[in-house]
Amino acid sequence: MKTVLWIFPGLIVVFALISFVWRMTSLRRSLPCPVWLRWLVELDNPFTETNRADFIIKHLDLQPGMKALDFGCGPGRLTIPMAEKVGDQGQVTAVDIQPGMLKRTQEKAQAINRDNIQFVQAAAGEDKLGTDQFDRAVLVTVLGEIPDQSSAMKELFNAMKPGGLLSVTEVIFDPHFQSQESVLKLAQEVGFKNKDFFGNRLAYTLHLEKPSFA
Ligand SMILES: C[S@@+](CC[C@H](N)C(=O)[O-])C[C@H]1O[C@@H](n2cnc3c(N)ncnc32)[C@H](O)[C@@H]1O
Repeated sequence: MKTVLWIFPGLIVVFALISFVWRMTSLRRSLPCPVWLRWLVELDNPFTETNRADFIIKHLDLQPGMKALDFGCGPGRLTIPMAEKVGDQGQVTAVDIQPGMLKRTQEKAQAINRDNIQFVQAAAGEDKLGTDQFDRAVLVTVLGEIPDQSSAMKELFNAMKPGGLLSVTEVIFDPHFQSQESVLKLAQEVGFKNKDFFGNRLAYTLHLEKPSFA
């Protein structure tokens, strides 16, 4: 019985250790969430509202015809509903460093005959996004996996249309969690303005705007 009582705290310690090592290693080199763990991403976390696809998309104010970006799209948890919102006149660009994640998103799109999604395999900082392209962008539990976050934020700033909105979501359960303060600092350094905040310190969605005059 005593042994059983130790199992739960033991698992928490193991999880915390793995998270710590993973997080530290990510500071030096790209160590993205592995494709075999995509089922965990697809769970659409029931514990934190701000990380749920429907919550993020509801607050994005996506309109038919818009061009939107899902950066670090993973298995397409947000890409597919975003593509439905912008409709056939609009387009979603789904970017991920891992072909396996893009393949999963592509399969989902094919299953519902959605052909308004452009798939781009790229790492943050490769400058494949272009300039003044997107009305909306999402960066959901991705930033902490990117080694050079400043370059990534600059790339995103350039890629947004003036007046465009970047939505950043972070959740404490993610080993790569980034605080609101550090995200804001990065974003403001490249020119984004703080627009809105939903949630709390441990699970939040932050809206950043590229000024219309930029
Ligand atoms: C935790 S998953 C989140 C997926 C998705 N945003 C979601 O919330 O459902 C992080 C994703 O970011 C991608 N990623 C990590 N580092 C990246 C980088 N440097 N450039 C582009 N994508 C990256 C990973 O491959 C992975 O699919």
